[in-house]
Amino acid sequence: MKPIQVGLLGIGTVGRGTFEVLTRNQEEIQRRAGRTIQISMVADLDVERARAIVGNQAQVVADARQVIANPDIDIVIELIGGYGIARQLVIEAIAAGKHVVTANKALLAVHGTEIFAAARAKGVMVAFEAAVAGGIPIIKALREGLTANRIQWLAGIINGTTNFILSEMRDKGLPFDDVLQQAQALGYAEADPTFDIEGIDAAHKATIMSAIAFGIPVQFDKAHVEGISKLQAADIRYAEQLGYRIKLLGIAKRVATGIELRVHPCLVPAKRLIANVEGAMNAVMVQADAVGTTLYYGKGAGSEPTASAVIADLVDITRLHTADPLNRVPHLAFQPDSLSNWPVLPMDQVVTSYYLRLRVADQAGVLADVTGMLARSGISIEAVLQRAADAGENQTDLIILTHDCVEDHMNQAMAQMQALPSVLAPIIRLRKEDLS
Ligand code: HSE
Repeated sequence: MKPIQVGLLGIGTVGRGTFEVLTRNQEEIQRRAGRTIQISMVADLDVERARAIVGNQAQVVADARQVIANPDIDIVIELIGGYGIARQLVIEAIAAGKHVVTANKALLAVHGTEIFAAARAKGVMVAFEAAVAGGIPIIKALREGLTANRIQWLAGIINGTTNFILSEMRDKGLPFDDVLQQAQALGYAEADPTFDIEGIDAAHKATIMSAIAFGIPVQFDKAHVEGISKLQAADIRYAEQLGYRIKLLGIAKRVATGIELRVHPCLVPAKRLIANVEGAMNAVMVQADAVGTTLYYGKGAGSEPTASAVIADLVDITRLHTADPLNRVPHLAFQPDSLSNWPVLPMDQVVTSYYLRLRVADQAGVLADVTGMLARSGISIEAVLQRAADAGENQTDLIILTHDCVEDHMNQAMAQMQALPSVLAPIIRLRKEDLS
């Protein structure tokens, strides 16, 4: 059978990895796919660099539209990134009847509904294993491996840059800014690291997973997003003393009133496996009714780990492209006419537990005032830690862990506590998940 022809848009780190792994493992991949998969055309603005990578094995052009216009190309891989030109090219590739493989989580989290509808209308596949957690086959697991289950929640460390920063802050007791510089020097964080450190990249990935886990549309605009840029080393230390690690988690949870979709720093019991995922590694924990808890761990970024996911999609499409589109695995796991309109809940309706740090005057009655306010808001305390004031100081840190409560109640209690004259600085509030 003649090779399936692939056009690659963008041959940066992941594109290069895809080309190299496909070349290196060509025979093994062919034995699985039943056909040779050949990248026969590459589009990149840096034509010289692209030629240096692919040699004479593929035609190199500067204009991506030449790839899309080539009738011999069956699959287009989009590795340009972002919502701008990448969106346009994906829409054009679909309109030209090409199957699309993309690693672009931002594009799918924001424009997925439009893109999947266009693909359905044209009878083509859009595959995106590489968009979430790099080399970990989490899309495959959620969409196919767990298909018997009613998924209850998932929680993931899905941004390696921030996990590296948090690991270093904890290990070395360093402040956020110092570790961020180190992450940039090591090439983990982008020169503009906003998407990573402000939780946006993780929220794109959590949005995609929420859609596949619960059969809802992708709704990035409804996600609650908080990053780690304001996290202080002191809170990592206190959390440690209380038996917790702080991780940036992407959480999607099905509750009676709707879906929680949120990314924020979170205390996780140190004894959980996921709390021990260190450095730039990723992990996703999934709780489902039949299988129970499963955990997926691996490299969430990098040239060949991400290429591994891109090529898995190429093999899937090679196997399935002649199948009736109605018999293929739906893009978002659920049949498109069976997507649910469960609401994504606003953050003030989310139920979770909390870590609070209050800088307070070290005087009689402060603890009683604070705990009284929590009690009047119906918030039950799980643990309290008070550091002895240093000699000569008349103020100290009061750390409180709570049981679950509605975030709205916590907001009200915090506003009252903040107004106390004995509370001397803005209250630090972090959320806590037991993941049990
Ligand atoms: N910037 C991401 C991370 C990798 O740090 O995990 C690509 O999504």
